[in-house]
Amino acid sequence: MTLTSIEWKAVSAGYNGTTVIENIDFAVRRGQRVGLIGRNGAGKTTTLATAMGFTQLRGGSILIDGKSAASLSPSRRSNLGIGWVPQTRDVFRSLTVEENLLAGLKSQPATRLDRAYEFFPRLAERRRNLGSALSGGEQQMLSIARALMGDPGIILMDEPLEGLAPVVAAEVMQTIRRLADEQEVGIVLVEQHVGLVTEFCEDILVLERGQPTFHGATKDLLANPDILDRAIGLAR
Ligand SMILES: Nc1ncnc2c1ncn2[C@@H]1O[C@H](COP(=O)(O)OP(=O)(O)OP(=O)(O)O)[C@@H](O)[C@H]1O
Ligand SMILES: [Mg+2]
Repeated sequence: MTLTSIEWKAVSAGYNGTTVIENIDFAVRRGQRVGLIGRNGAGKTTTLATAMGFTQLRGGSILIDGKSAASLSPSRRSNLGIGWVPQTRDVFRSLTVEENLLAGLKSQPATRLDRAYEFFPRLAERRRNLGSALSGGEQQMLSIARALMGDPGIILMDEPLEGLAPVVAAEVMQTIRRLADEQEVGIVLVEQHVGLVTEFCEDILVLERGQPTFHGATKDLLANPDILDRAIGLAR
């Protein structure tokens, strides 16, 4: 897959006549790790979902490899190489792990399945288990593994560690690091633990009530703790 960039250019977007995010300028390139932080309801999911084409774009544009995505459906965007790990996980409970991985794929190269299992050995062990029998951590692994099946150049991850016990979260985070390091997959990470985001990501966008209050290098954000304090609360 040759996807190399996604850009948000002065993006405003929302749902059913409302505008939820405004003036978002943000970008991720292949091999890059960027973070998106903000309180509950700040518009993090909406920002990712807009890149996939799941919201109503009210202004600005999403550029995929430099070209406007306006006419592209979500499935077309996914075929171009954008992986999507939704906050809701969306595992099919009545399908097995392997059926979940293969669902919706037109071609089903065994190599992709092998790669997904190589990144998540736990899923290989549970390949015949139903989605409904998986733990929260395993469901999250399955959700990321499913995004890998499309051979993405960039993956949008919406709180992939949410609700996981610390030891499982660390395991999933380790795999996300490997994806970035070994496969040079670009990653947008939405995550509540600010320390994880500042440690993992080179660039960060901070949202407050749908508005960007910071976009730039992580080190510059760390030099401005007042921004973090206001947007997130330092306790987090
Ligand atoms: N499908 C939808 N239809 C209408 N409004 C929505 C929809 N999804 C989200 N919203 C609203 O948009 C705003 C931003 O929500 P969003 O889910 O993007 O925030 P978030 O930063 O991801 O929050 P969280 O940390 O809770 O996941 C909220 O006010 C929310 O109620
Ligand atoms: Mg969200």
